Amino acid sequence: MNLGQMELNNIYNVDCLVGMKSLPNDCIDLVVTSPPYDDLRIYNGYKFDFENIAKELFRVMKKGGVVVWVVGDKIKNGDKTLTSFKHCISFQEIGFNVHDVMIYMKKNTPFMRSNAYTNCYEFMFVLTKGKPNTFNPLKTKTVRQGLEKLVHNKKADGVNKKILGVLKDEKTLTNIWEYAVGLGGSTNDKIAFQHTAIFPERLAQDHILSWSNENDIVFDPMCGSGTTCKMAKLNNRNFIGMEISKEYSELAKERIGLIENQLF
Ligand SMILES: C[S@@+](CC[C@H](N)C(=O)[O-])C[C@H]1O[C@@H](n2cnc3c(N)ncnc32)[C@H](O)[C@@H]1O
Repeated sequence: MNLGQMELNNIYNVDCLVGMKSLPNDCIDLVVTSPPYDDLRIYNGYKFDFENIAKELFRVMKKGGVVVWVVGDKIKNGDKTLTSFKHCISFQEIGFNVHDVMIYMKKNTPFMRSNAYTNCYEFMFVLTKGKPNTFNPLKTKTVRQGLEKLVHNKKADGVNKKILGVLKDEKTLTNIWEYAVGLGGSTNDKIAFQHTAIFPERLAQDHILSWSNENDIVFDPMCGSGTTCKMAKLNNRNFIGMEISKEYSELAKERIGLIENQLF
């Protein structure tokens, strides 16, 4: 795959809006990313140009490619920003299908507001360029397995009969995914916490396994500490990461270096 000036399996210290300009059309299979939250226009002194980033993402995605956009809302003067919803609606206007609105639920969130319930989730918008090319549904064990008398009614008499049936061993997950956060939850990599807003490795991995296959190209345009890139590599996918902050891009490279040492 020709990626212009970009090489696969690299982290680039670049504004993703600039970086994506050097990617060809229709080259990315999967994006798993999380934008800077809500200090919106300026983040650590950087501008975040959502509209143009979203349009560039649409251009570089393959037909059937999937973007997972993980985003929460801040509260300003007692009012939720609803940036998440605004992003989702803009993506739809740009041409993405809103394939699913999933929830990332945090197991161990601290109590934060005295006049409202503790917020314990963010959205995971699953956006597709047309029909998704890949869906490998993740499964979970069912509570009961084996033989059981099941309710069965084939006739219109409304009388339920019971027949012996085999219960399924596993079922497809729901679209609410729950993860522990913090050290030992999100990751065991201590250095990752030099970044203040990482998402859990398992969240990235679960999406990578669901929406891509081995050797596919997984892209994180705002890769922070490199969680998506790390999990892409561990699951035999190619990755590209972009990060505007030099400090964080170095951190992401260092983190991926840790697994390279473990793998080879
Ligand atoms: C919420 S964090 C991502 C964290 C990441 N998912 C992880 O697990 O480490 C968002 C990141 O976007 C970066 N960022 C903000 N604007 C950017 C831009 N225009 N291009 C590339 N990166 C950007 C920030 O520096 C920040 O590290």
